Parts: sequence; C-alpha cells; structure tokens
Amino acid sequence: MPVDVLVGLQWGDEGKGKIVDVLAPTYDVVARFQGGPNAGHTLFFDGVKHVLHQVPSGIFHPHIINVVGNGVVLDPVVFRGELQKLTDRGIQWGDNLFISQKAQLILPSHRALDRILEEARGGGKIGSTLKGIGPTYQDKVGRTGLRVGDVLLPDFKERYTEAVARHAQLAAFYKQDLAIEAYEDEFFSAIEFLRTLQLTNTEYLLNDLLQQQKRILAEGAQGAMLDIDFGTYPFVTSSSTIVAGACTGLGIAPHHIDKVYGISKAYCTRVGSGPFPTELHDEVGEQIRQAGHEFGSTTGRPRRCGWVDLPALRYSIMLNGVTEIHLMKADVLDEFDEIRVCTHYQLPNGETTDQFPDYGTLQNVTPVYHSLPGWRTTLQEITEPEALPQPLKDYLHYLEENLLVPIRIVSVGPDRVSTLHLN
Ligand code: GDP
Ligand code: IMO
Ligand code: MG
Repeated sequence: MPVDVLVGLQWGDEGKGKIVDVLAPTYDVVARFQGGPNAGHTLFFDGVKHVLHQVPSGIFHPHIINVVGNGVVLDPVVFRGELQKLTDRGIQWGDNLFISQKAQLILPSHRALDRILEEARGGGKIGSTLKGIGPTYQDKVGRTGLRVGDVLLPDFKERYTEAVARHAQLAAFYKQDLAIEAYEDEFFSAIEFLRTLQLTNTEYLLNDLLQQQKRILAEGAQGAMLDIDFGTYPFVTSSSTIVAGACTGLGIAPHHIDKVYGISKAYCTRVGSGPFPTELHDEVGEQIRQAGHEFGSTTGRPRRCGWVDLPALRYSIMLNGVTEIHLMKADVLDEFDEIRVCTHYQLPNGETTDQFPDYGTLQNVTPVYHSLPGWRTTLQEITEPEALPQPLKDYLHYLEENLLVPIRIVSVGPDRVSTLHLN
C-alpha cells in the first residue's frame, strides 16, 4: 500500500493538523518526518481545541499507529508535557506511539544556543521559535548530536555532559553562558520518562506495515517556503519540509509515495522574519489577522498576513509534486468585497517573472495582482460543496486553472466537521 504525504505549501500554519485529523480515519498510520517543537498543529473537534507540537496528529484515533520519525528533533520535556495533557484529557496513546531511536534529541543547551545565536544576529534575526531546532540539526549534520536511542546507553550522562561542554564553548565565543542548570533536573526526569516509551527502529516498523498493506499518512511540519534548501534562505527552518523529507525522515523509498496533499490557506501568512512579497501592511492585513485569529500556535506571535501568491505556490507545487490542494480558512475571507491573487512579480528593472526568485531579488519584487469579487456569505454553515457561493467557486476555479492542480478540500472553519470534499 502507498504512503501519502501531507505538506504545507506556504510559510507554515496552513492548517495541516486539521487536515491530518480529517483524513486520519482512512489511514492506519500517521508519521511525522521532520521538525520538532517549533511546529504547532491545531485540531478542533467535539468543542475542544488541541495543539500538538511533536506528537503526530493521528493520536486521537485509537486505531492509528503514530510514529515520530528519524527526521524529527525531539525535545523530551515538551514531549512529556504534551503526552501528559493528552492523558489528562482521557486520550489513550500508550500502545499506539512509536519513536525513532534515530531522532535527534534537543538538549537544554540547544535551546540556550538558539537564543544566543539569534541574539547575535542582531538586525538579521530569523525569528526562530527558540525551541533549539537550528542548533540540534547543526549537531546532527556535524555528527555530534545525541539521538533518542542514546538514552538507553549506560554512558548517556557522560555523552550529555560532553555535548554541553561543547555547547558552552560555543556560547563563550559569543561571551554568553548557557545558564541551563535550572532546566537540567526537568530534562533528566523527561529522559527517564522517554525510556518508558516505545523507542524503536521505525524505518523497519513502517516498511513492515507497508508490507502488511497498511496505509501511511506522512505529516509534514512547517511549509515549503521554510525549507532549508528551497525556502527563503536564510529565513527558513533547518529541515527538509518538502515531500523528499518524508523519504529521509522516515526511511521510506520514493516509489511508495502516491498522493501528495498540498495545504494552503485561501490567503497567506508568515511568522518570523524574511521576505513575504504579498504581505499587507494596511488595514486589510489587519482584518485578515483578526478574522483568521492569526497568532502563532507555538509562540502566540502575531502572524504577518497577505494575499495568495501564485509564483510561490507554483514553486511549492513543483518541488512537492502536489497531486491535490486543500484550501484552508476560506471562511476568513467571508467579509471581503475583493479577493486578490498575486499572478506574477515585477522586477526592479521593469521585467516581470512568474517564477519564485532568490532572496536578493525577492526582496525587491513588486507583486502584480488579479482581483476577484468576494462572496460576502457565511461559509461555516455550508455543508455541501454545491451550496458554496458562486464567487468562491470562481475563486477556486481561478486557482485551479493557474496552479494546474485540483482543489479537493475546502475548509470553512476550524472544526473537523467544517470541511467540504470536492470531486
Ligand atoms: P498547522 O501548523 O498547519 O497545523 O496550522 P496551525 O494549527 O498552526 O494554524 C491553523 C489555525 O487555523 C488553527 O488555529 C486552526 O484551528 C485554524 N483553522 C484551520 N482550518 C480552518 C478553517 O478552515 N477556518 C478557520 N477559521 N480556522 C481554521
Ligand atoms: P507549523 O508546523 C510557522 C518559522 C519561525 C521562523 C523560522 C525558523 O506549525 O506550520 P525555527 O524555530 O524552526 O528555527 O524557526 O521558521 N517556523 C514556523 N512558522 N509554522 C511553523 O510550524 C513553524 N516552524 C518554524 O517562525 O521564522
Ligand atoms: Mg502551526
């Protein structure tokens, strides 16, 4: 059976968590393949909102096996906190959760370094979530990281001490102290907890499940425009957020991949620094922020808001081989008279391009817009696709024509039930 992959097409927070939850009943496995506690995936059902950071979004379905893959960077303290919250809410997760022994461990010193390195960037701050993501992936690539499996080794403590000594040297270069003593007890007690979980070689587990004809949904975090290679570098995260990351982050060969779900908002947001050509600095942007409650799920920071950007979306679709788009938060635009779409960019020399340029050029492009009428209808009440207002149908049609990929889901509210499946 195939693996389907779900990825964000913008700068994250597209609504991936909601769609994983919606699609989960048709899968046997949900597997996270990259990122870590920088992610905040929101699910909403039965009147309750849940925000997951590292736990895969299939956890609420008792029949689903949830896997934290080797491509993930795992903060044991945050992880324990999340699982505790699930326990408090009566969710049984014990038998259905597997963690790769090859996932990297985020140490308190990684978090401290994230803060120190971000401060050192001065005006060029990335706007990191400060969860230790960059420094942990740095150690992974530098082949000095600690992995989840290491917690089972008798000399784990020594390995930890050695890593912290290295991190302290780096901090000293910036004339800073790690100042992590207050967090270490909590860290080691979370490590004790981690030892009680199902730590395993998840690449074997997943490939065995594929052999048994089980259906796997790979859950991406962040979005293509934050990808370490193809995103708006250096204002990106430190992992492969595109579909290719699912192969390396889970140990699944490419030929197993079938559908690629590309998740996009009906507009666009970004949190943190970096170029965002269609950003609105006016009251329209503020209206989107308020209507869409665009404040970060992980950090609470206000998200920057703007219109859909076709060159950026086409780029993400190309990189991911998206087979269907799920358009989220259409209801947020209910009150707008006009919906705008960036069709291409004007360059400083007067030429135009419909490709997504590199950072230097991207900072100086002027988006060129196509305008469509808004629908001025409350979408949340609508339960049948046929009942969608004509201006929204026209918007969907316009996007499909320009992106050359079908839109199969339109989301009209945060709740799992506010989801329309199109043919
Ligand atoms: P993720 O990181 O991609 O999973 O997205 P987040 O959970 O960070 O952000 C999406 C936010 O939009 C969450 O607060 C969701 O509850 C909310 N949301 C998802 N889909 C819809 C929708 O169709 N309409 C509205 N109004 N909110 C939505
Ligand atoms: P989900 O999975 C939105 C952004 C940060 C920052 C940059 C680098 O919820 O879509 P990092 O902490 O990774 O070093 O931050 O990436 N960022 C996200 N933005 N949604 C996310 O995850 C994000 N994860 C990281 O704001 O600009
Ligand atoms: Mg999010």
